[in-house]
Amino acid sequence: MKTRITELFGIEHPIIQGGMHYVGFAELAAAVSSAGGLGIITGLTQRTPELLANEIRRCRELTDKPFGVNLTFLPALQSPDYPGYVRAIIEGGVKIVETAGNNPQRWLPALRDAGIKVIHKCTSVRHALKAQSIGCDAASVDGFECGGHPGEDDIPNFILLPRAADELTIPFVASGGMADGRSLVAALALGADGMNMGTRFIATKEAPVHDHVKQALVAASELDTRLIMRPLRNTERVLKNAAVERVLAKEKSLGASIKFDDIVGDVAGAYPKIMKEGNLDAGPWSCGMVAGLIHDVPSVKELIDRIMREANEIISARLRGFASARS
Ligand SMILES: Cc1cc2nc3c(=O)[nH]c(=O)nc-3n(C[C@H](O)[C@H](O)[C@H](O)COP(=O)(O)O)c2cc1C
Repeated sequence: MKTRITELFGIEHPIIQGGMHYVGFAELAAAVSSAGGLGIITGLTQRTPELLANEIRRCRELTDKPFGVNLTFLPALQSPDYPGYVRAIIEGGVKIVETAGNNPQRWLPALRDAGIKVIHKCTSVRHALKAQSIGCDAASVDGFECGGHPGEDDIPNFILLPRAADELTIPFVASGGMADGRSLVAALALGADGMNMGTRFIATKEAPVHDHVKQALVAASELDTRLIMRPLRNTERVLKNAAVERVLAKEKSLGASIKFDDIVGDVAGAYPKIMKEGNLDAGPWSCGMVAGLIHDVPSVKELIDRIMREANEIISARLRGFASARS
């Protein structure tokens, strides 16, 4: 399938695997890229720029297809060494960067000079327009359904995507709630040039996370996510568990006076315990409502081939049938 996104990134299918903390290692990124999508290594999961440089080298050994690196700019206890990470990306010869969180403007000149294409993840039309105006090449438009940080506007993709299509001139992918061929066709119908998936890619054979995590996604329904840190204006959609219930209870009891310090013990440092050790209650972990559409753990290639087959069938049979029925 050819869209502005496949052309921009030199990929076969308009499917991107978004950066995911403690999930987006070289194994997953390479599997997605080798299957014709765009795999993305999560920069900050690597604790130092040197480790990121190593992860980029590992990914290059695993695939000869293009892959990207995610750089997330979120409130952090200690500001990461962003100049070092940018250097590792440039020196590693990576040509695609997914930025997320705060405005990436400061880093764009260096990335552009190195011939790197930047796709910025946004949760609102105004942020996507800002990304376009500062020179980002594409946007990933993340609706309220998404796993991770949906922002504070709570606009689901059925509204957000056509709004983005009406306003943007740069290509964009639909992100949040995407799982299958139906998602891809819907995303294209609403004006996107492809789709970005997070949660769905965790339940794949190659995702280098504990099997407990994959099975939790298969078992979960669309009713099983919760929003935490809303009072801190750092909302995160997570799978409900004991730690999430504790955080929500604190948010309720402390009300508007809550500070990050009040919950830091419940949220910080949990990802390695969850993703590597399979201790699912070690803390909150991001998960989209799309868990309700996840029923198996295929290989990445099986998943992507299935999505493309379904999408092509929907377009050439189901939708074509409706069009001819009218004429
Ligand atoms: C476990 C997990 C960790 C994530 N970590 C990050 C991250 O570090 N940086 C980022 O930009 N997005 C992160 N995301 C968001 C994804 O890149 C993607 O935008 C989102 O999952 C899309 O929604 P979906 O889960 O409904 O597909 C994370 C998502 C999940 C599920």
